[in-house]
Amino acid sequence: MIYYLTTAQLYCKCRTGIIMDVLSPELVTAGLGTRFIGQKIIHFPSHGSTMEAARQEARQAAAEGTVVVAEEQTAGKGRAKRAWLSPRGSIALSVVLYPDISQLPYLIMLASVAAARSIEIVTGLETQLKWPNDVLIKGKKVCGILIENELKGDRVAWAVIGIGINVNIRTRDFPEIADTATSLYDELGKELSRAEIIRRLLVELEKQYTSLGDGEDIYWEWRDRLITLGKRVQVISGEDVLQGVAEDVSKDGTLLLRHNDGQLSHIVAGDVTLRDAGLNPRRR
Ligand code: BTN
Repeated sequence: MIYYLTTAQLYCKCRTGIIMDVLSPELVTAGLGTRFIGQKIIHFPSHGSTMEAARQEARQAAAEGTVVVAEEQTAGKGRAKRAWLSPRGSIALSVVLYPDISQLPYLIMLASVAAARSIEIVTGLETQLKWPNDVLIKGKKVCGILIENELKGDRVAWAVIGIGINVNIRTRDFPEIADTATSLYDELGKELSRAEIIRRLLVELEKQYTSLGDGEDIYWEWRDRLITLGKRVQVISGEDVLQGVAEDVSKDGTLLLRHNDGQLSHIVAGDVTLRDAGLNPRRR
C-alpha cells in the first residue's frame, strides 16, 4: 500500500490500483452539517468489524451519534450471521444510538432510506430497496445494513446501525460477490469521494432520526421504495423457504406474504428473491 500526503487529504493506492481518500476524522467531519451524528468519529485503518467496536463504545456510554469507520474489515458481519466483504475502497461504518424502544422498528427503515437517498444525491444513480433493507442498483446489491441492539428490561440500552457500501471497488475482483453485487465504481466507471458519501449519509441519518415522531413518514417512504411489493417472491426465513406474493409490509416492518392457498404469513426476518424454478421441497 502506498500512501500520499497532500495539503488537504491523505490518499492511498490500493492493490487494485484504485486511488482513494483515507477516511480520517478530520476529512469526514470537514463541513459536516450535523448536530450529533458523526461529531465523534473513531477511525481504524483495519478492524475485524465496526459493529464490535461500536458495541464496545456504546457499552462505555459513548456520545450518541459516535461513528466507527474502518478502511477495511477483516471479519465484517452481515445479516443472518453471514460474512460481509469490506475491502479497502468500500465504506464500512457503524453509528451508536440510544433510541426509545418505540423507535426501534424504524431504525431499519430510516437507515435504508438514508443510505438510498445519500447514494442517489451524490451519484445521481437510481436505487431500489429490497425488503427489509438491502439497497440495490439495477437489481444488484450495493449496500447492506445491519442493526444490533441490547435491551435492558423495557428500554433500549443501545442500538448500532452498521452500513456497508461498495464504493471504489470493482466487484469483478471479488468472485464471491461478482454475480449479485455492484459498486458505485462499477456503475459510474470512476472513483468517488467516500468522505462525501459518508457526510451525506450522516446528514440523512440525523434528519430521519430526529424527525421520527410516530414513524409514519419514514414508513411510507421506505414502503414506497421497496421493489418487492406486489411481486411473486421466495423468502428464506430461518429453516423455512416460503413462496407467495409479497402483499405488503406492516408498520413494524413485518413482510406480509400471501400464499397460493390464501393464507398470510407475517415474516419478521428473511431473505427475499424473485421466485424462480427449483424451489426447496420444504416450501409451504
Ligand atoms: C447485510 O446485508 O448482510 C448487512 C451488511 C452490513 C455490513 C456493515 S459494514 C459496517 C458494519 N460492520 C459490519 O461488520 N457489518 C456492518
